[in-house]
Amino acid sequence: MSDTVSRRSALRLMGGAIAVAAAATGALTPPAHALARPEAGAGPRLEGLLAKLTLDEKISLLHGATDPASLGQAGYVPGVRRLGIPPLRLTDGPAGVRVTRHATALPAPVLLASAFDPSLARRYGRVVGREGRALGQDVLLSPMVNLIRTPYAGRNFETFSEDPLLASDLVAAEIKGIQDEHLIATVKHFAMNNQEQDRMSIDVRVDEQTLHELELRGFEAAIDAGAGAVMGAYNKVNGTFSCENKTLLTDILRDRWGFDGWVMTDWFAAHSTVAAITAGLDMEMPDGTYFGTALKTAVQNGSMPERLVDRSVRRVLSVMDRFGLLDGSVPPRPDRDAKAGAAVALEVAKAGATLLRNENRTLPLTPGGTVAVIGPTGSLPFVSGGGSAHVVPDHADSPLDAIKSRARKVTYALGEDLFGKAIPAAALTPAFDSEAQKVGVGKVWTYDGTLTVTASDEWTFVLHFSSAPTARPEVLLDGTELFPQAAGYGEYFQGGLVSAAPDGLSVRRRTLTLAKGAHTLRITAQGGADGLLFRLRRSTGATRAQDVAEAVSAARHARDVVLFAYEDATEGLDRATLALPGHQRQLIEAVTKANPRTTVVLNTSSSTSMPWLNSTGAVLQMYYPGQEGAVATAAVLYGECDPGGRLTQSFAVDDAHHPVAGDPRRYPGVNGTEEYSEGIHAGYRWYDAQGERPLFPFGHGLSYTSFSYGHLRVRRAGRGLRVSFTVHNTGRRDGIAVPQVYVGPSPHLQLDQAVKVLAGYRRVALRAGERRRVEVDIAARTLSSWDPKRHDWVLGTGRRTVWAGASSRDLRLRTSVEVGK
Ligand code: BGC
Repeated sequence: MSDTVSRRSALRLMGGAIAVAAAATGALTPPAHALARPEAGAGPRLEGLLAKLTLDEKISLLHGATDPASLGQAGYVPGVRRLGIPPLRLTDGPAGVRVTRHATALPAPVLLASAFDPSLARRYGRVVGREGRALGQDVLLSPMVNLIRTPYAGRNFETFSEDPLLASDLVAAEIKGIQDEHLIATVKHFAMNNQEQDRMSIDVRVDEQTLHELELRGFEAAIDAGAGAVMGAYNKVNGTFSCENKTLLTDILRDRWGFDGWVMTDWFAAHSTVAAITAGLDMEMPDGTYFGTALKTAVQNGSMPERLVDRSVRRVLSVMDRFGLLDGSVPPRPDRDAKAGAAVALEVAKAGATLLRNENRTLPLTPGGTVAVIGPTGSLPFVSGGGSAHVVPDHADSPLDAIKSRARKVTYALGEDLFGKAIPAAALTPAFDSEAQKVGVGKVWTYDGTLTVTASDEWTFVLHFSSAPTARPEVLLDGTELFPQAAGYGEYFQGGLVSAAPDGLSVRRRTLTLAKGAHTLRITAQGGADGLLFRLRRSTGATRAQDVAEAVSAARHARDVVLFAYEDATEGLDRATLALPGHQRQLIEAVTKANPRTTVVLNTSSSTSMPWLNSTGAVLQMYYPGQEGAVATAAVLYGECDPGGRLTQSFAVDDAHHPVAGDPRRYPGVNGTEEYSEGIHAGYRWYDAQGERPLFPFGHGLSYTSFSYGHLRVRRAGRGLRVSFTVHNTGRRDGIAVPQVYVGPSPHLQLDQAVKVLAGYRRVALRAGERRRVEVDIAARTLSSWDPKRHDWVLGTGRRTVWAGASSRDLRLRTSVEVGK
């Protein structure tokens, strides 16, 4: 609860934060769901209920309020008890249920996506769906389907892919899974929330073709899958805030796609009353700044007809009715099944594990060998990212323990120090307990002394404290505050790993160069209602050198090295660089020099540049692997399962060579505007169009065995295609192949087209020596482009190239086919 409260105030600080064309010749006929449904289609029973509601009651259903019995979830809408309308509890999020209680911390959605397996996404959805209901919730604020456009975006771990087909398949399957368990799914953030920088205000300028061919496809798939709710994004799209954008909320969502659920704002993303509800917004979250009294006044003074309130209430009630919440037909809340949740979490983490490099048979490791485990996240499990996707896990094992149970001898070295070491007592005059200073309830503790530095060095001060960030100790060094309060979001968005010490104390850091000699140190700490415990630690150039030396020594004395590298992302913040944070590059370089049989395990949010790549033996991308991540990582390292994941995003060589590099108008935006000037050429499409080489291409991922592909056949199937080919496991181990099918452009369309697009894929488990014929269906939509003149899809007819292969840059088979009308 306190988290929710502080988060609310942090967000507050930020100030809250096509028509369907007639099917012209050649244009695709609008799908059945595209025909607008009559607003009054809710049925006589609902209409009767609506008629009994007072204006105040109706309005209370259209905005958030404080939950008298909160479980720490993100939102609450009171029901209308006298009419049997129950309250709605709304919880995050994308990687598991986020309340104050324990839940299954599933692997980050990007890891789920890496499995290229919609059936697994459905089971993932079922885990969250069941747990959400078991934990007293009615609505899940997930899945997130915004595309990965910029590698810097802070939420890339919370979403699926840079490719719209893969994202669409997964979002649809996950929503079905969530709703199979009677929890209402909310697809978010509609639309174009593809970066965190300036997310509350940025105006995304995007052309109609790009909008429809890329970002919107996932949302449409979510609506087709029956999502009960949609969350509007913070940002503007083409000049208008998403939460009051008629093109998005009415023309596309309702009139074109036939959505009949409700649209809520992102948290504090409402900006108006009449304009928003008229444009198609139904619910303001988490409070009623615009949809509370202001809405009532607008109706009463005639600036807005009450039927618009009724329209929104009808949408909310009709979803509640569909889920059996109004007549009590919803099944009783189940108990949590933590065991089943853990099993799916483990399966997903193994299935998504993506082996990027494996030289000289570095992997799999041989059981019973000697291993050096290096890196802070080698012992401290990195479970999930920060922000609203953070989950309180049931438990989390240490990768070190998981490796110990498989090796004969394991040594561990920290390598990179996240939480600092004790300041030597002799450096502090007078001495004080800088390792565990306790301040009593309501007491004020002060220290006035000196810190003596024996040699000029770079110091990182690390403050650990038990209070809320706003009540942390004040530490003045030479008269300057070391840990000033961050403006706006800063205090809330601090990441999931680095901002909390292993014992749960909050952590803040400050790095500066200190000259040799004495420095004044003044500390003021106040013990609030619970008192205060704090530590002041540090790491310096000298302690860092010592950490690296210990890691190098451990690496030298072991046959194999597993080095865990981290990057800690959260919503609200983008990364400044694709490089690993801190001094990890130097650590990797020193360790790989000492022992080239080094596997780097990446617990990162998204793509990373790897200037150190060629010195490594292997690189295993695990993202944020959830509560079973340690076991899954060890299982993959030791070859107990094949690394089943493939990249759902391209990895750039460096900060200068990727789709949003070098043009600030593209990213992060100039004067509040961000231009999608790469158009439809996002992700691997950009690398293809530019002839750029990615570090690792979309679809890449190695197996411990090898596969050959053959006998590609393509035939027309309706307006789409049926592709078939043979995949043969030519190695001596069982393994997972993820063959992918790509199609080239149509010669007939006068529209911008990509060099190739992903058209289908299949995840296949093949025993050693096994050969299997794989069939992949390509839908007409995948062969179509959005024509901005017709405002509709148009099939790309004519002879088109079809490839099948192991990644977007490993295309083994090729043929062509005539696509007809
Ligand atoms: C995030 C949403 C989340 C909401 C509620 C917002 O800051 O953008 O994704 O669902 O908070 O926690």
